[in-house]
Amino acid sequence: MTSNTDFEDEIEEIVYSAQEIAQAIEGMALRIGQDYAGQPLVLLGVLKGALCLTADLTRALIRIPQRPSSITVDFTEVSSYGNARRSSGQIRLERDMEVNIAGQKVVIVEDIVEGGLTLQHLQTLCRMRQPKSLRPCVLLDKPHNRRVDLTVHYLGLTVPDAYIVGYGLDYQEKYRHLPYLAKLRSQVFSPVRSSKAIG
Ligand code: PRP
Repeated sequence: MTSNTDFEDEIEEIVYSAQEIAQAIEGMALRIGQDYAGQPLVLLGVLKGALCLTADLTRALIRIPQRPSSITVDFTEVSSYGNARRSSGQIRLERDMEVNIAGQKVVIVEDIVEGGLTLQHLQTLCRMRQPKSLRPCVLLDKPHNRRVDLTVHYLGLTVPDAYIVGYGLDYQEKYRHLPYLAKLRSQVFSPVRSSKAIG
């Protein structure tokens, strides 16, 4: 069985602890709760990165007194990075949403915005289906490599210009399970060839 400690030597430093993440989500939930108090809301989680965030945001929303009258949770899955470190710029829809969002108030739930192409693409896709309103809720902003102009209505935290993993974010499908957000050591994605490999 794999444990968290197996990854410790691949982590450079923790950027946000599990508690700091929970506080940021609580803050976003309070703002969303106020804005949609007494109204039905669709939360559209973007897989796979927003898997933890969508669950925790939903639970935070149902705990607060000022909250939507109902919450419908659905997911879509898009991918642009594949196993690469930078977005290819080609957004692939891997899984479409199931809910009909026409006439509904929708909040898109994303783990991170970096270049912004993924969120821009999703917003275009959603708008074609004519929701009553559409706002993004993003846990992490990494503004350094932004390629498009975006307004993120509900934002949690800002991260440095480093490869960030944990809390749903991966590198080659690893590290999503970590409870914290951390910088990945650069050796992990640009490994020094071992003497054995050089042979
Ligand atoms: C990541 C992340 C966002 C997107 C942000 O998804 O989850 O959806 O990239 O990048 P951008 O702002 O530069 O467009 P990824 O394609 O890695 O898929 P994943 O969520 O399944 O890990």
